[in-house]
Amino acid sequence: MIEINVNIKESQISYPIFINNNNFSNIKNDVLNFISKKNYVVIISEKVSKLYGNLLDFDNIFVLKDGENQKNFNNFNKILNFCFKNKLTRDDVIISIGGGVVGDIAGFAAATYMRGIDYIQIPTTLLACVDSSVGGKVAINNSFGKNLVGAFHQPKAVFIYPEFLKTLSLRDFKTGLGEVIKYAFIEKNCELDFNLLNFLDENYSKILNYDSSVLEHLIKLCISLKISVIEKDEKESNLRRILNFGHTYGHAIEKITNYKKYTHGECVVAGIIFAFNLAFKNNLIDKNYLFLMQDLIKKFDFKKIPDYDLKKIIPIMKTDKKSTSDKIRFILPVDYSCVKEFFFDDLLTIF
Ligand code: GLY
Repeated sequence: MIEINVNIKESQISYPIFINNNNFSNIKNDVLNFISKKNYVVIISEKVSKLYGNLLDFDNIFVLKDGENQKNFNNFNKILNFCFKNKLTRDDVIISIGGGVVGDIAGFAAATYMRGIDYIQIPTTLLACVDSSVGGKVAINNSFGKNLVGAFHQPKAVFIYPEFLKTLSLRDFKTGLGEVIKYAFIEKNCELDFNLLNFLDENYSKILNYDSSVLEHLIKLCISLKISVIEKDEKESNLRRILNFGHTYGHAIEKITNYKKYTHGECVVAGIIFAFNLAFKNNLIDKNYLFLMQDLIKKFDFKKIPDYDLKKIIPIMKTDKKSTSDKIRFILPVDYSCVKEFFFDDLLTIF
């Protein structure tokens, strides 16, 4: 088992992340030992409960249907009521088991129930393992957009069992790989030196075959990169913005296609390609680095997203919640594994 610790100075919060490739059948004991004798409720994805219900026979289980549209106010309220019915106090715990949807809504319930209680993340998708379960961003959606109602509320612990990933469809698995590739291009800003780009290049075929030990190592690298960022900037005032590499354009594609046509990872990959092209057109990177990105992305064979009309995409990018003015904020590559923030007000003359 690998244990990595998160130590956030800003809020003086520390918590462990356990990556456990063995003892998959011991999940329940691992978690119950960790929370000792506290009362708890479990919020679990319906899919995960159907596949692994026998291993996860906790008490006080709330099953959440799958899909981004479940991250809504109605379900949030139901979860809070479930906590009240089970008499959770401020000393008790919410346990989330599932992908980003479950983690986000359960985490937001934990952030608000009696002004905030502890929660534990057990991510079951690659996307949740490498991104949403770590870092404390919790939220629900409303009619104005995704993740617009939320909080920063760090988990008390994260338990990762890569074994869960084996039952993901290749497309669901690859949506996590979109975020993994993002980390490879921002590594130097994280002040770490794993050469993730090289690791991905050498191991892509093992990764696509769900090789357990390669996946364990990959998750460890990605989480370490994310931790190094959030430890310095928990609330996204500056450095954490690099985690949005590929997301400005990616979010706009997700929005214009009603979050249905493409996965988040596919949109992030399209966003990375867009960011590279923008950087190249502005002489920030040379052709070799552009080709390196294209070669790597080709190896993972993501679903292709056609070019959408920029005239329609630009207004959406301007309303992204990460934008602060009329200009569009982009994180762009400037060197090997290194990115920088730029603002553009006239993209149409560039493309
Ligand atoms: N997913 C981006 C972040 O956690 O900041």
